[in-house]
This record gives sequence, C-alpha cells and structure tokens, in this order.
Amino acid sequence: MNKYNQEIIDKTIEYVKKTLSGESSGHDWWHIFRVWKNAKHILQTENDADRFVVELAVLLHDIQDWKFSNDELEGDRIIKKWLLDLGVDKKIIVHICDIVANVSYKGADVKSKILTLEGKIVQDADRLDAIGAIGIGRAFAYGGNKGKEMHNPEIKSDLHDYVEKSKSNKGTTINHFYEKLLLLTDLMNTKSAKNIAKKRHKFMELYLDQFYREWNGVA
Ligand code: ADP
Ligand code: NI
Repeated sequence: MNKYNQEIIDKTIEYVKKTLSGESSGHDWWHIFRVWKNAKHILQTENDADRFVVELAVLLHDIQDWKFSNDELEGDRIIKKWLLDLGVDKKIIVHICDIVANVSYKGADVKSKILTLEGKIVQDADRLDAIGAIGIGRAFAYGGNKGKEMHNPEIKSDLHDYVEKSKSNKGTTINHFYEKLLLLTDLMNTKSAKNIAKKRHKFMELYLDQFYREWNGVA
C-alpha cells in the first residue's frame, strides 16, 4: 500500500482546476470533483484499495480526452511528467496511467481490459457521473457541443461505431441513452456503485418516458 500524500493531492487539485476550468463538453473541474466524491464513497466499502492511487487517477483521468485529440498518448505524457515532477514513485505512475488509459467507455461491442481494484473504482466513479440527472445534463451538453440532434425518430440507435459517433455530430443524444447510459448499471464493478447506479437508472427511465410523452404531445 502506498503512503497517502496530502500535499501531492492538493497540488494536483490546483493543477487540474486550472487546466480544466471553463471546459464545456462535460469534463470541467466539477465533473472531476463529483467523480472524486463518488470514488471516496466507494472507497469506504473497498477497504483493500489504495486510496492514493484512486484519488490521483480520478483527478487526472480527463486531463486530456481521446475524443478531442488526435494524439491518444498525449494525456499519458502529461500525467507522467506531472507525477514525476512531484516525485511520485514510478510504479505508482505506471499504475495510474494504466487506469486512465482504460477508464473510458468505448462502446457495447468493445471488450474492456481487466482492471485492478483501483481501476474498477475509478471506472465506477466516472460512470456514475454519466447517469442519473447529472448524466442526462452532461449528455445534452456534450451533444450540443458536438452539434448533434437532440432526438430524431428516424435515426435508430446502433451499438456499433460508438467511438466514431462520439467524435462527430453523428447519432442523437437520445440514442446515446441506449448506446451507453442505460447499459452502465449492469457494467458497474463494485457493489456500492451498483446500488447508486440502480437509483439513477430508474430516474433515466422515468425521464425518457416523459420525454416521449411530450414528444408525442400527450403530456
Ligand atoms: P466519462 O467522462 O464518463 O468517461 P465520456 O468522456 O465518455 O464520459 O463522455 C463525457 C460525457 O459526454 C458523458 O456524460 C457522456 O455520456 C457524454 N457523451 C459521450 N458521447 C456522447 C454522445 N455520442 N452523445 C451524447 N453524449 C455523449
Ligand atoms: Ni470522466
């Protein structure tokens, strides 16, 4: 177990806040802040996990986003440099980079890598912020940022080409519920995250129900 270093956490918070402030696609500082809170909640029941690794990985997981960059390794370099400059142990850095590289959802038909306990916690914490009321808000914000239609009954949801759809204006935000958001509850790794996910899942179903009622002019 690595020693928890408060100073390194505090410096990383300042760095991430500065770097992500004003980001409008759903990866602003407040996303990181919420994921951090989710992770701390999950850590309460996952006693064997290394808290230092989980918190650093959460704080740095969206410092550079593959959906907005052509260079997938840029984030890896940024994180390595930041942590090396702070004197973090090389083994911890490799673990954190590995978690960040594998945290993201790449589509229902893409098999994800087996994660360490710390990786599972970071992934669950991040995915919780993609569902429920906040997740709905983020999906529409993201869709708007990419120029997607909110809904179009003529475009059917499709589990293929997730990555391509995420990067472009293809697909609709309502379809994104079926291509990702409603699939996440079953994919949660930890029990405590799954419990929270179930409540948020119900809320999304309720939301979609009302959305279609209004769309059809009956509510
Ligand atoms: P996370 O930070 O949880 O890994 P992503 O980076 O995949 O999430 O995406 C950021 C936010 O944008 C999430 O809330 C996600 O659901 C949303 N999003 C991603 N792709 C789409 C899409 N094609 N349409 C609408 N929202 C999307
Ligand atoms: Ni995230």
